Amino acid sequence: MKGLILSGGKGTRLRPITYTGAKQLVPVANKPILFYVIEDLVTAGIDDIGIVVGDTGDQIRQAVGDGSRWNVRVTYVQQSRPGGLAHAVKESREFLGNERFILCLGDNVTEGGVSELVSEFATGSMNCSIVLTEVKDPSGFGVAILEGDRVARLVEKPREPISNLALVGIYLFDRNVWEAIDSLRPSFRGELEITDAIQYLVQNGFDVRPHIHRGWWLDTGKKDDVLEANRILLELIPPAIHGYVDGGSLLAGRVVVGADARIINSVIRGPVAIGERTVVENAYIGPFTAIADDCVVRESEIEHSIVMEHCHIEGVRGRIESSLIGRDVEIRRAPERPSAHRLTLGDHSRVEVQQ
Ligand code: G1P
Repeated sequence: MKGLILSGGKGTRLRPITYTGAKQLVPVANKPILFYVIEDLVTAGIDDIGIVVGDTGDQIRQAVGDGSRWNVRVTYVQQSRPGGLAHAVKESREFLGNERFILCLGDNVTEGGVSELVSEFATGSMNCSIVLTEVKDPSGFGVAILEGDRVARLVEKPREPISNLALVGIYLFDRNVWEAIDSLRPSFRGELEITDAIQYLVQNGFDVRPHIHRGWWLDTGKKDDVLEANRILLELIPPAIHGYVDGGSLLAGRVVVGADARIINSVIRGPVAIGERTVVENAYIGPFTAIADDCVVRESEIEHSIVMEHCHIEGVRGRIESSLIGRDVEIRRAPERPSAHRLTLGDHSRVEVQQ
């Protein structure tokens, strides 16, 4: 079986981070979210992986490479335009051929991975499997209506609340998907919807199996979702101290300190990941925080946050919390007089200041 990961898209809900970076490369627990998706496929035994890329293709190619790091082969498919999930699959036809494949979204991770699904589908006779999970507000997803253990109907972004079972963005197909995709017309949002392709399979008597997923599902489209993913995935990484921690520092709970990092006179309460060569001095790093490589955090407090590479945070009064901080950002204490906030912010930045 082959694997196909979709890694295009503009990531508008994650601006300004996505002005300069692909949303699939946003680090969660100090690792790009896309790497978790790749690793789930690798664990499931898939060693031939296609990645569909768009405008941010160069960055994705650079970060992922040829797959040799995971001992797999990665083939890139450049999508000609952002035409929807089914359009991305259509443009991958040459890579996929007539093999059975699993389709995943490059910014979604589910608890427990995909091994069971893959082995069941690889040996089974079904034409398609879809993963569903219960959500409170299904209006932003594709949803499925079940009759017993059969899929009766699928609707993309339902206007009426017809089902609270959302499509999680993990799909398994056999070659009949090509007939389904060839039948598609653009949807209300001008895209070729994979949901409509599956609806075609259902309508035309193909065997489409639902799987109800009950663990966590991380769809990292927005800041709060990224922080939630960071919270959950930090709890799964094995603690390891590769850097230097001085005698005046206190580390509690699950903490990772990268090689050549230095922790001086600081308190770190895990789960926390500190990147390589990062310096933490006279600081407090609270739970659910990931600080990437080559950062400085000095005389400041931060928790429940993600700080990307090469940031400098120094002398900040009041704790930084629930924040997503991009690369090369500086946050420093302002001079005493005149007392003011001085900001240099890119388009679509969000700042909440203390009263
Ligand atoms: C896409 C699919 C939708 C699915 C969702 C999961 O939505 O079209 O059916 O529920 O992914 O994240 P989009 O992210 O394109 O709005």
